[in-house]
Amino acid sequence: MTMTTARKVELRRGLKDVYLDTTEASFIDGGVGKLLYRGYNIHDLAEQSTFEEVVYLLLRGKLPTPRELEAFDAGLRAERSIPRGVVEIIQRVKDAHPMDVLRTAVSALAAFDPEVKDNSKEALVRKGLRLTAQAPTIVAALERIRKGLRPVEPNPKLNHAGNFLYMLFGKEPDEEAAGVMDVDFILHAEHGANASAFTARVVASTLSDLHSAVVAAIGALKGPAHGGAAEEVMKMVKEVADPERARAYADALLSRGDRVMGFGHRVYKAEDPRARHLRERSRRLGEVKGQPQWFQILQRFEDEIMFPYRAKGIYVNVDFYAGSIYYLLGIPEDLFVSIFALGRIPGWTLQVVEQYTNNMLIRPLLEYTGPMDLPFVPIGQRG
Ligand code: CMC
Repeated sequence: MTMTTARKVELRRGLKDVYLDTTEASFIDGGVGKLLYRGYNIHDLAEQSTFEEVVYLLLRGKLPTPRELEAFDAGLRAERSIPRGVVEIIQRVKDAHPMDVLRTAVSALAAFDPEVKDNSKEALVRKGLRLTAQAPTIVAALERIRKGLRPVEPNPKLNHAGNFLYMLFGKEPDEEAAGVMDVDFILHAEHGANASAFTARVVASTLSDLHSAVVAAIGALKGPAHGGAAEEVMKMVKEVADPERARAYADALLSRGDRVMGFGHRVYKAEDPRARHLRERSRRLGEVKGQPQWFQILQRFEDEIMFPYRAKGIYVNVDFYAGSIYYLLGIPEDLFVSIFALGRIPGWTLQVVEQYTNNMLIRPLLEYTGPMDLPFVPIGQRG
């Protein structure tokens, strides 16, 4: 929203529609629902690529040859362990929200990273890859510890997504589960100047370090207007419980002025292209697991209840179906937003690299609207 104040200052609240810088990370056309990572369509990547290959694409700037990917993947697999000191910190803070634990553990990893102060492009990429490899180990270790179980060591025989589920549940996932997790990570890997990537850029623009930028980004992602929506969607769907109750539930919610989580987007005014891949997988997984009701409830919202909102450019976003997928995989709801973070670390890293490469301190202005030149009365003379 653009507003003009009394002093004729043009305010762009929420920095809506403001271009901050240039990027080669991703292209988004919100009007038609198009998303490219480094020029490649998200649909091709979701259907034909792997998370490891997408990370290579984002951080090395091109698609790898088979040999390049093999060596890159071996490097990622070798970086999955987390220091004992970080596991101990997770044990101490295990009762906090998992995003608080992830944020704290990533912050602690800085103390163990020999390259923490090195902001050269090569070191930033190495650190980003280490964080990409280590973050799933943090989330899985937390889940085990809070259940009173021992953390599971990473299994270098499994790919990134399969290993995450293995460390979370202590058994190798089936192909379907590992495949869904892989696609989910691909879809979350990068997304322009969203609130968390912007936060990471602000931190990088002060010439602080990558760990600080990622810690701050995790904090920004946690909110329900950003990454926290998937958790809220699943809470809503469970409260609805029966597709026949969806309409009454939504009417009550909307008439209170509340929003249906998982709908709407600052940039997309057509369908979020990432939703397509999660919609189909939510349906399939629901059938395989014998729990089709969740998808049926979600469909009621998308096809009936929220249909009229399309005229206002409000469609499903990436979070709408994601929650049901995590739930069907057996992942507790308070871990959902952490999973978004696991996928997004490569995108944050790339944007921090871009920010450093052509840095300019990000420092906007605020228009002051408070009182002016008040007389200061010393504290002893105030009644
Ligand atoms: N349900 C009902 N109405 C909505 C919704 C919704 N989910 N989202 C937006 N609106 C309405 C809003 O009430 C407003 O109506 P009016 O013009 O009559 O006042 C209009 O649409 C514009 O809303 P806005 O808040 O000005 O738009 P925004 O661009 O600032 O907000 C958003 C974007 C994502 C914060 C918002 O759509 C929202 O709160 N959605 C629900 C939360 C959610 O799903 N978040 C995940 C976003 S996608 C994952 C990610 O990348 O983070």
